[in-house]
Amino acid sequence: MLSTQNVRQILIKTNGESLRKVRSLGPEKTIEFITRKGLKGRGGAGNLTGNKWLEVRTQPGGSEKYFVVNCDEGEPGTFKDRFILENNPETLIEGIEIACFAIGCRKAFVYVRGEYAALAREFRKKLDAAPRSVPIEVVVGAGAYVCGEQTALLNSIEGRRGTPRLKPPFPATYGLWGKPTVVNNVETVANAALAFRDDWRGDLYLFSVSGNVRKPGVYERALGTRLGELVRDCEPSETPKAVFFGAAGGCLKYDAALALEPAAVAAKGAAVGGGVMLGSCTLIIVGESRSIPVVCSSIARFFAHESCGNCAPCREITALLAKRLECSVGASGAAGGFDAKFNEFVAESSALLNTASLCGLGQCATASLSAALKQFPSEFESPAKSQSKTKSKTKIKKQKQADSRS
Ligand SMILES: Cc1cc2nc3c(=O)[nH]c(=O)nc-3n(C[C@H](O)[C@H](O)[C@H](O)COP(=O)(O)O)c2cc1C
Ligand code: SF4
Repeated sequence: MLSTQNVRQILIKTNGESLRKVRSLGPEKTIEFITRKGLKGRGGAGNLTGNKWLEVRTQPGGSEKYFVVNCDEGEPGTFKDRFILENNPETLIEGIEIACFAIGCRKAFVYVRGEYAALAREFRKKLDAAPRSVPIEVVVGAGAYVCGEQTALLNSIEGRRGTPRLKPPFPATYGLWGKPTVVNNVETVANAALAFRDDWRGDLYLFSVSGNVRKPGVYERALGTRLGELVRDCEPSETPKAVFFGAAGGCLKYDAALALEPAAVAAKGAAVGGGVMLGSCTLIIVGESRSIPVVCSSIARFFAHESCGNCAPCREITALLAKRLECSVGASGAAGGFDAKFNEFVAESSALLNTASLCGLGQCATASLSAALKQFPSEFESPAKSQSKTKSKTKIKKQKQADSRS
């Protein structure tokens, strides 16, 4: 079990009080309240939850609407949803009840990643023990990262192959079995219950922190907290060099002053070519002794493995990149064999993936590598190139010394 010592708000049990308030407010006012409170999705995109609920509430279709909780959590380095499922399933269940009441859903599903099967069993027990007014079904996935993408997840629940659907139509109009559906992240749903407390703070987010730190874990912090402050609390095991925002969110050179807030991270990322995002607040801290190309190589392997293969560019390019990086990174972690054409190849691949990928997996597959190439170019240089650079530097130095003597 992950330590609970760095977290407070998300552990609060709402004990049915929020649901009682919601029942007295009625569905429309409940959605208005959630919108006014500014609750935003915690699954990565940060959409206003109230807007998503309202769109489905106002769809025709009577009570044939569904609510789905996304607990696929396949992003490397992300474990905050597991933390909620383990430590506060009661408040999550209350959030589901509130959402179903407000949107007008006849049934809810909780989609749990295959690797959390034991946790799903425990959660089912909690569901059986909790008083409920809507049926809530737990579906366990088969361990595919792409099933976190909401339409792939819906296919998987329907018993189809878990691959993303063409959009539009979006789930709000054509979701589970073609009916209007809301998909929300676990942390979003737990907060929907907590938002009805007077002391709720909408700026508190869960950060999953791992990498070269002595205290990896889930940390609840306000958006805007400085990276250095959070990393200090996690006790870095060596001087930090970079932070990777999961596998899909790109990376930035370590800057203690960086504000952990979506716009600030994106702005800093824009300065290095874009594609960097705070996403679901996953921070993988990379220390100075670690090789950036090795980290990028393992990320590329992940994407090649997880591509569902439906789009040719995603299927082929992720495999090519993984192979290219694997061949170029020595067993010692030293980069070698990256020729000048490599940067060009990555730039062209990114452009193609961005335009020709059906889902976010393909679109984000090169985010970390592209950002790393811009910020850590010397780590990708072939030994021959870096040797010749050192040689010419030494030559210049010797010449300067000779000049100063003459
Ligand atoms: C490849 C891929 C994987 C995703 N994985 C997850 C996930 O594990 N959990 C999650 O909540 N959202 C994931 N998302 C985002 C979902 O599609 C969706 O936007 C989210 O569940 C909406 O919830 P929210 O509005 O509460 O943030 C993923 C998206 C993509 C493209
Ligand atoms: S972009 Fe990749 S993961 Fe997404 S649908 Fe296409 S092949 Fe599948």
